[in-house]
Amino acid sequence: MDTTPKTVAIIMDGNGRWAKKQGLPRTAGHKKGADRVRDVALEAQRRGIQKLILYAFSTENWKRPEDEVSYLCKLPGMFFNTFIQELMDNNIRVTFAGELERFPAGTQKTIMKAVNQTANNTGMELCLAINYGSRREILLGMRKYADQVAKGERANDITEEEFSNYLFVPEEVDLLIRTSGEVRISNFLLWQIAYAEMIFTPKSWPEFDEAALDECLADFAGRNRRFGGLADEN
Ligand code: FPP
Repeated sequence: MDTTPKTVAIIMDGNGRWAKKQGLPRTAGHKKGADRVRDVALEAQRRGIQKLILYAFSTENWKRPEDEVSYLCKLPGMFFNTFIQELMDNNIRVTFAGELERFPAGTQKTIMKAVNQTANNTGMELCLAINYGSRREILLGMRKYADQVAKGERANDITEEEFSNYLFVPEEVDLLIRTSGEVRISNFLLWQIAYAEMIFTPKSWPEFDEAALDECLADFAGRNRRFGGLADEN
C-alpha cells in the first residue's frame, strides 16, 4: 500500500520567534524561512508528494508593520530569482493560490514568470498560498457559482466534488503540518482539510529541514485513515 500523502499543506510558522532567539531582526527569520521552502520542496519532490501547498502570506498578514509587509512582499521575488533554476532542474511546477492583485506589480510579475516558466514541468506542484484566506476562497467560489446559476448557465444542484473546482485549491489535503507549536488552522484550506491528518510540531519553520519532513511522513504512514468509516480490522 502506498502510504505517501498525495497533497501536503504546511503552515510555516515561527520565523519571527526563531529570529528573536538568535538576536536577529524578524526579516532574517523570513529569509531563512525562504531557504527552508527550497529544502523542503526538493525533499517533498524526492519523496513522491504530488502537491505541496505552503502558506506564505495570509490575508491577515497585511496587518503587520509596513516594513515587514514590504519584506514579505519581496520574498517570492527573491526566492524565485535564487531558486528557479533548481526548480526547473527538478521538474517542479509552480502555482499559487490567492489573490495576487494586491501585491506590488514587480512581485506579481516575478510570480507569474515562475508560474509560466515551470508550467510544462511534470513533477511535483509547488503551490504558494499568497494573500490567501480560506473563508474568502469559499466566498469567491460561492459568488462565482451563484452568478452562473443566476445567468441560467447551470442548475442549482452542485455537489461537494464540483464545489472543490470553484476553489483556488481543488485537491483534498492528506497531511497538514504546522510548525512552531501553535495548534490552530488560521484560515488555511478549511474545505480541503476535512479528512486531513494533522501534525503540529514544536520546531519553528527555519528549523524545519528535510529530516523533519521525513519524520512527519513516517508519522503519516503509521496513521489509520478511516474517512468516517471503520478500520479494516473491525
Ligand atoms: C509566520 O511566521 C510566517 C510568515 C507570516 C511568512 C511565511 C513566509 C516564509 C516562510 C517565506 C516565504 C517564502 C516564499 C518562497 C514566498 P511568523 O512571522 O508569524 O513567526 P512568529 O509567529 O514567530 O512571529
